[in-house]
Amino acid sequence: MAASNYPTELFSSNLQFENENKFGGKLSIAGCTAEKLVAEFGSPLFVIDQDDFYLRTKAWKSALEAEFADNNLYYAAKSFISVEIAKWLKDLNVSLDVCSGGELLVALAAKFPAPNIEFHGNNKSESEIQLAIESNVGVIVLDSLDEINRVSSIAKSLNKIQKVYLRLTPGVEVHTHEFISTAHEDVKFGFSIASGGAADAIDRCMSIGNLELAGIHCHIGSQIFEVEGFITAAKRLLEVLALFKSKYGRELAELNIGGGYGIAYTLDEKAISPEAVIPVVAKIIKSECQRLNISIPKIAIEPGRAIVGPTTTTIYKVGTTKDVTLADGSIRRYISVDGGMSDNIRPALYGATYSAFIANRSSNEIAVKSRVVGKHCESGDVLISDIDLPKDLKVGDLLAIPSTGAYGRSMASNYNHIPRPAVVAVQNGSARLILRRENEQDLLNLDVVQAPRQLS
Ligand code: LLP
Repeated sequence: MAASNYPTELFSSNLQFENENKFGGKLSIAGCTAEKLVAEFGSPLFVIDQDDFYLRTKAWKSALEAEFADNNLYYAAKSFISVEIAKWLKDLNVSLDVCSGGELLVALAAKFPAPNIEFHGNNKSESEIQLAIESNVGVIVLDSLDEINRVSSIAKSLNKIQKVYLRLTPGVEVHTHEFISTAHEDVKFGFSIASGGAADAIDRCMSIGNLELAGIHCHIGSQIFEVEGFITAAKRLLEVLALFKSKYGRELAELNIGGGYGIAYTLDEKAISPEAVIPVVAKIIKSECQRLNISIPKIAIEPGRAIVGPTTTTIYKVGTTKDVTLADGSIRRYISVDGGMSDNIRPALYGATYSAFIANRSSNEIAVKSRVVGKHCESGDVLISDIDLPKDLKVGDLLAIPSTGAYGRSMASNYNHIPRPAVVAVQNGSARLILRRENEQDLLNLDVVQAPRQLS
């Protein structure tokens, strides 16, 4: 797959509308209609286009391979992981970035090769570290001095040498939401290069036992469209590699520049493609390595959203519609769907914007100013604040919101005791469940009725 075929628009590659107009139409993904999918699996439903997932993964991988002889593509599990997804990644021969014991266990349940796993997190527990080392994960990314000590002592107790990276903060401000920007100075992640924290952490790693410092890492933030941030970060990290060489007389072999590549959530946005970013960053890396007189390290990236985000469409059923008269006398129509902030917290948390389309039929009616809301007991439970939808949109219609594969199901909650939706994979006209819908019994199973007992 050539990187230039990378789809940068909102929809997954195999999504189609029959009798399409601006409001949507009869939607099918990989030959499965929204109506049949909902009849079979219920709603809300996350529908993942498997071929699209493969296409995007391969596009990032081949873009990286085209530039760097030694390279590694990690998929960021936090964006969405399940046993089936981990199997796809294994099949695609890419590596996996996990950031909790839970994500690691999903990977292990899929028999994902542990040496190809990288373990992140700013506060990994002792049991998570123990699990990671015992399972032979490839690399642990260290985030604090406490953690350097902790990983070293657990590795020692297990009589192992653990390969580690240090997460560094290159002091880059990126244009994205404050909550998903991670590499400026005042942030909980990593060791600051500017303040000398990074140099101290390197010294600590080099002097403490049972750690093999193999490389450095940074992740500057998420949903980024400008390549400059990645370039600045890479330059600052390469300078750290050069300083390391002059101090320790050897080279650190690996440089991971993180994920964060932006995708389209609305019709007027365009994703940043692998070919728009990788060759540009590669050019700088190569010239900087020459200038600094260091070898080109093994280059890793770890996108999540850019791979899984556009692959998935959420299908909701409309439950109620209500016209509300606004102060200026205009009408806003509230369209309530059967999910909401429990399956997509992004609008409420980051002010994220989305597009929605009718998925079960076409409509040639006039547009009505509408707001798509969920079923939760919060005014802030809004999926799309302002959208034109057709006047005849009615109870029972299906609404599709594309590009919900990243940080949708993975950040889903049980707010209001609503079970989390199922995820169905579609390919060549066939559909299969990869994550079943939670049911009320799953939630009730957590309730315990216990007599009080004194704690000794
Ligand atoms: N690597 C590290 C160390 C990360 O912290 C993240 C995301 C990634 C890679 C993947 O970033 P991506 O390529 O998916 O942008 N919940 C937020 C995004 C939080 C991102 C957290 N870290 C959202 O829904 O926008």
